[in-house]
Amino acid sequence: MAAIEKDFKRSVVYQIYIKSFCDSDGDGIGDLPGITSKLDYLAHLGVDYLWITPFFPSPQADGGYDISNYCAIDPVYGTMDDFDELVCEAHARDLGVMLDMVLCHTSSEHAWFQRALAGDERYRRYYILRDGRGSTCAGDSGEPPTNWQCAFGGSAWEWEPRLGKWYLHMHDVSQPDLDWTNPEVRAACADVVRFWRERGVDGFRFDVVSLISKPEVFEDTPDGSCRSLVADGPHVHEYLRELVAASGIDGMLTVGEMAATTLENCILYTAPERHELTQTFSFHHLKVDYADGDKWKLMEPDIARLREILRSWQEGMQAGGGWNALFWDNHDQPRAITRFGGREGAGERGGSWERVGRMLATCSFTLQGTPYIFQGDELGMTNAGYPSIDCFVDVESTNNYRILMEGGATAEEALHVVNERSRDNGRTPMQWTSGPHAGFTTGTPWLAVPENHVLVNAEAEVGDAGSLFEFYRELVRLRHELPVLAEGAVRFLDAGAQAPKVIAFERTLGDTRLVTVCSFDSEPSRATGLDVDGARYLLGSYDDAPVSGADGALELRPYEAAVFLS
Ligand code: NOJ
Repeated sequence: MAAIEKDFKRSVVYQIYIKSFCDSDGDGIGDLPGITSKLDYLAHLGVDYLWITPFFPSPQADGGYDISNYCAIDPVYGTMDDFDELVCEAHARDLGVMLDMVLCHTSSEHAWFQRALAGDERYRRYYILRDGRGSTCAGDSGEPPTNWQCAFGGSAWEWEPRLGKWYLHMHDVSQPDLDWTNPEVRAACADVVRFWRERGVDGFRFDVVSLISKPEVFEDTPDGSCRSLVADGPHVHEYLRELVAASGIDGMLTVGEMAATTLENCILYTAPERHELTQTFSFHHLKVDYADGDKWKLMEPDIARLREILRSWQEGMQAGGGWNALFWDNHDQPRAITRFGGREGAGERGGSWERVGRMLATCSFTLQGTPYIFQGDELGMTNAGYPSIDCFVDVESTNNYRILMEGGATAEEALHVVNERSRDNGRTPMQWTSGPHAGFTTGTPWLAVPENHVLVNAEAEVGDAGSLFEFYRELVRLRHELPVLAEGAVRFLDAGAQAPKVIAFERTLGDTRLVTVCSFDSEPSRATGLDVDGARYLLGSYDDAPVSGADGALELRPYEAAVFLS
């Protein structure tokens, strides 16, 4: 089956969190036939590629990112025939399929780890095993080799008596990290990628791939955090090039999830002549509401910081010849609409949720890079607002709820923080209809459906000219049709002192100039110096253009986005 090959600069990717997209068999969990049944919806939206999160056999300790067999399908999601049918039907609609490759770690139930536990030397070398600190003899654990903390709370090391060593797990204890210094591991990972390429897949997303090359020396860090220390390690570029060449995927759409990365490295990952990846996800712009850099300490988003991060990454990637993946949401993030102010009237037409949704979409679709829509963005899905900790499933959320309480928070305070920050906010079932369980399943959904599905849903929005869904369709169309969006240079603009929460930039190509202005402010603001007099208003988050004063200033309404073309 020939792969779909589209110009990634003109493409739009749609992320499907399979567990929550569409359940075809009533077990409460989304599946492959469920996705196939919604391909017409996705083709109608106009996207080019579908990135499907992992559907491989997994104990589900981390929502499927703990894989026990890379080359099979978990029966809960369907069969290999279902997968082949999905690819075939997607291709018939000119939609490419991208799979999620989780090659930094396996599940502890993977056969490789099981063989290591059984004492097989070959497989012990697949993992990162160390003696404990202060250990005096074989079998004595001592203390963990370093003070590193894993991503979900607690030590990144686990003592395993069957190994007689500590093993490293940068995520859950059931996700031992693979040792990429071992050439056999690298070859085995390339085999996995090749297996799926040969099955007709059109692109790949690589999970936490910035973390595959560990530092040569393992040392304590001042606060136990280890992601920045490990990220963009000494051999990561070499390993990626080897993986891409050995699996035969050079030229396909490939995106790396780059935890704790740097701009300089993202340029190297994506510069075309290096044959590593086509684009990278970085996350600095989604930490602007972490007080003291701590995800579990709340604060309002710092828009000045957001603007500076977007500016430096946009202009920096451009100058270095790199390419960004553009996104606000994914299955690891609370919903951006809630996060950036769209809390009122969730569901009511004209409520701030809808305004913020349009503003965020306008921003990401007109920046330089490839836009990603996370399922439900196009409908305006918001945070879940669960009434009890028992509603949460995600290991990171439940762990941090406990850690917050151990740190002295009351149950109510801890619940509030988890409601704001939980990854489950991004994992609630897709809101297809206003009916039971939002039309996601006929059974009991694995995660509760937010109440606002009665108003925010696909059935209500598809075909309704003023809806967020139709707004997204228009943005996708523009992305395909306006060369300035794909190819244009980007430059950030200063909107002046009366627009402290406004982000503005221009894209230029030949004689064409496109200006985007986005207000992240819940109050009106006045943007100056954008030089859009005489330019055509293309679209925005209100039905009409902002009022322009005699001095050329734009009077922006709350959460107003506007795009001008000249
Ligand atoms: C990033 C994935 O997006 C996230 O869901 C997962 O928990 C970690 N990587 C570990 O695989």
